[in-house]
Amino acid sequence: MAQSSHPLVEAFTRAGQGQVFAHLDQLAPAAQERLLSQAAEIDLGEIARLNCLLLTPGAAAGINLDGLSPAPYEPLPEHGGDPAAWASARETGEAALRAGRVAAFTVAGGQGTRLGYAGPKGTFPVTPVRRKPLFQVFAEKILAAGRRFGRTPRWFIMTSHANHAATEAFFAAHSFFGLDPARVHFFRQGRMPAVGFDGKILLEARDAIALSPDGHGGSLRALDRSGALDLMAGEGVDTVSYFQVDNPLVRCLDATFLGWHLRRGADMSAKMVPKSAPGEKVGVFCRQNGKTVVIEYSDLPLARQQETDPETGRLRFLAGSIALHVLDREFVRRMARSDHGLPFHRADKTIPVIDAAGNLVKADKPNGIKFEMFVFDALPFARNPVVVETRRADDFSPVKNADGADSPATCQADQLRQFVRWLQAAGVAVVTDGSGLPSCVFEVAPSFGEDEETFTAKWRTTVPAPTIKDGLYLE
Ligand code: UD1
Repeated sequence: MAQSSHPLVEAFTRAGQGQVFAHLDQLAPAAQERLLSQAAEIDLGEIARLNCLLLTPGAAAGINLDGLSPAPYEPLPEHGGDPAAWASARETGEAALRAGRVAAFTVAGGQGTRLGYAGPKGTFPVTPVRRKPLFQVFAEKILAAGRRFGRTPRWFIMTSHANHAATEAFFAAHSFFGLDPARVHFFRQGRMPAVGFDGKILLEARDAIALSPDGHGGSLRALDRSGALDLMAGEGVDTVSYFQVDNPLVRCLDATFLGWHLRRGADMSAKMVPKSAPGEKVGVFCRQNGKTVVIEYSDLPLARQQETDPETGRLRFLAGSIALHVLDREFVRRMARSDHGLPFHRADKTIPVIDAAGNLVKADKPNGIKFEMFVFDALPFARNPVVVETRRADDFSPVKNADGADSPATCQADQLRQFVRWLQAAGVAVVTDGSGLPSCVFEVAPSFGEDEETFTAKWRTTVPAPTIKDGLYLE
């Protein structure tokens, strides 16, 4: 059946994107439906605006680095922060957790390409002894927070079209790791079409648009569209604790961080660690035109990253973003619905495409553009944003690459070093190498201890004291 008079086909043709349906009439009915439903996902006005902004020669395609200065942040007490302010923040955060005002939120839509792992990244095993997958580590930390504060927070997980079914199946197969399935919520992030350098939407098959995830910044829209914000509002959850799927060291529900955010009346807050080296691949918190912004590592020239503060000798742009945020629920809604919401970033990619004759062409150099939003671009829109220092060892050791930095090996070592520090805080002597790594491989479950304080309390009541040896699992 000819579909050329379908309203979507007409709208795409009017927008100069009629090539999307070039092969429509040769497709079987089911394939026609698939293509039309993909086309229905696309906001043609948005694509036209992006093309105008990002493709027009001379238009503002790059990142603006004018007038950048380092962003102020709340230093830890050991770096000069006011201990009383930190203690108050913690009290506020604990009260919010006890009152059930907080939800956990994981962005898990990424592809794990750099890691070379085929499944959803959250299913990747990371712990030293039990080889628990990332999702299980977070689930157990959320359960532990529930025991500590009397209420188990809801957990929202953003997936992608590519990994949604596999993610849900994984949780079902593992009985949600002890969480109540009714309080774990999965929803897909949005997708954006790739365009050629001429702004035309690309096809990856005759019946399929080249669509890809819209970046973790798409989480703001997806939280709204999925009904998650309404669900939160219905039960008095007004604060969202945001973390990435790749970081098992994260404190998913950090009372002190939550408290800083709440006491400041912030729309959005962020954690920072001092960068370990000028070239470390983390975004940097800066001030620009009176706003807090994150400049991505790839956008800040190395010479700027290497600048030092003449007084302290430390890096001038020191505050590294570890992608941990607290978000106010209604701020998320405003951003999701705003016409002037998050900007899109362009990434030039090599994309297999269908040519005019309907044949698949594999280019050998970038031939198109993908569009992504970054969640940290919401910071300049936020009222009273607060950047809070954290100890890297308490919050950050991501699994991003198969080998080298930020790999399964470095992450396992960082987990072990953390367990050792907790043991030492409890008064146990552990032999380590110069980097704090023990000679045996053991593991502490979040049910035994989530941090130095909970670990120490549990250790002191565990009789007889366990022997630290290879394969020990404390739960
Ligand atoms: C990211 C940050 C960087 C930060 C670093 C800390 C960006 C652009 N950069 O870098 O500033 O210092 O983490 O580890 O984010 N995701 C989705 N949907 C998407 C894309 C990503 O859910 O469409 C999720 C991934 O599953 C992952 C997270 O976002 O949980 C980070 O994505 P990734 O592309 O790995 O970011 P990085 O380049 O490592």
